[in-house]
Amino acid sequence: MALFTSLRLLALSLSLASACPQLQKRQGVNSTVPEENRFFAYQESDDWGRLNPAWELCQTGTQQSPIPLRLDQGLSRFHTLEFNYPNTSSGDFHNWGYGPATTFLGENGAGVTSLPSAQFDENNVNETVYLASWHIHAPADHSVQGDRSKAELHLVHADAQGNERAVLAIRIDPGNSDSGFFRQLPAFIGFNSTGESRPNTSMNMNLALDEIDRFSDFWTYRGSLTSPPCTEGLRWFVARNIMFVSDEQMQDILRVSTFSARAEQEVWRHDINSD
Ligand SMILES: *[C@@H]1O[C@H](CO)[C@@H](O)[C@H](O)[C@H]1NC(C)=O
Ligand SMILES: *[C@@H]1O[C@H](CO)[C@@H](O)[C@H](O)[C@H]1NC(C)=O
Ligand SMILES: *[C@@H]1O[C@H](CO)[C@@H](O)[C@H](O)[C@H]1NC(C)=O
Ligand SMILES: *[C@@H]1O[C@H](CO)[C@@H](O)[C@H](O)[C@H]1NC(C)=O
Ligand SMILES: *[C@@H]1O[C@H](CO)[C@@H](O)[C@H](O)[C@H]1NC(C)=O
Ligand SMILES: [Zn+2]
Repeated sequence: MALFTSLRLLALSLSLASACPQLQKRQGVNSTVPEENRFFAYQESDDWGRLNPAWELCQTGTQQSPIPLRLDQGLSRFHTLEFNYPNTSSGDFHNWGYGPATTFLGENGAGVTSLPSAQFDENNVNETVYLASWHIHAPADHSVQGDRSKAELHLVHADAQGNERAVLAIRIDPGNSDSGFFRQLPAFIGFNSTGESRPNTSMNMNLALDEIDRFSDFWTYRGSLTSPPCTEGLRWFVARNIMFVSDEQMQDILRVSTFSARAEQEVWRHDINSD
């Protein structure tokens, strides 16, 4: 069994090396996510650090995401989080290979600092970050009290240089009414329709914030990308409120999604909710 697994991993890494040497397709501004949708498998996330030397942090990092969250960790009292999103943002709506996604870059060559912005403080320094993209994982990456939501929306924010700096996470579950955020979106694109996208799709990102009371309560910690290369130096905010969608909306999301939750990581130097 062990031998079989390691041979399978070896085969996978060899095919990566030959078929797909470049990590180019962008999830955030300056991010590196695999060009091929099935470049790495979430089912084997414990082994990512061994698949590619560039992904070593997935194995050795001290601030890897996601981590299990609990109410007795308290909610953040030390950090502010404020938004300055316009009511209309336009981006490239597509499927990132694991579920629905939108990238807000590249329209008319506009720069990072023209994107919707948010502000937070870390070590008493105010930082402004810019909404580069969003994507959905199913099931959720973060569990709370051991409970895992059906999906999780990640709002990926970059600094003014275009480097990923903060991810704002919103858990999604079925409730008893539909979500205005999802209602405004065009029909979802299936994950196996490679390359298909709807450029210049307009959406109101404030609807997503409003549905969870604009991150009125959250956990925050020092973390990483939840996919290779597992880059650290990101600040995470996980909203306490859950975004509720109708059963039909939940099924629409799940229909075009595939398993995309990384195994939870040990809490180490994450400084959960501390300054
Ligand atoms: C967005 O719309 C809301 C309600 O419709 C309004 O209160 C708010 O001022 C608008 N924000 C901007 C930036 O236009
Ligand atoms: C950072 O900016 C926010 C929003 O303008 C403000 O509420 C907060 O007090 C500022 N924090 C610091 C430490 O300057
Ligand atoms: C990406 O990051 C590098 C290094 O920080 C920076 O020089 C470059 O301008 C960034 N690219 C974009 C598109 O912002
Ligand atoms: C992939 O898409 C094709 C048509 O675009 C469809 O017939 C097929 O069932 C899909 N496969 C999966 C696994 O969703
Ligand atoms: C995107 O859509 C807006 C409004 O719908 C339009 O004004 C703009 O020209 C479009 N841009 C591109 C590149 O198609
Ligand atoms: Zn994500």
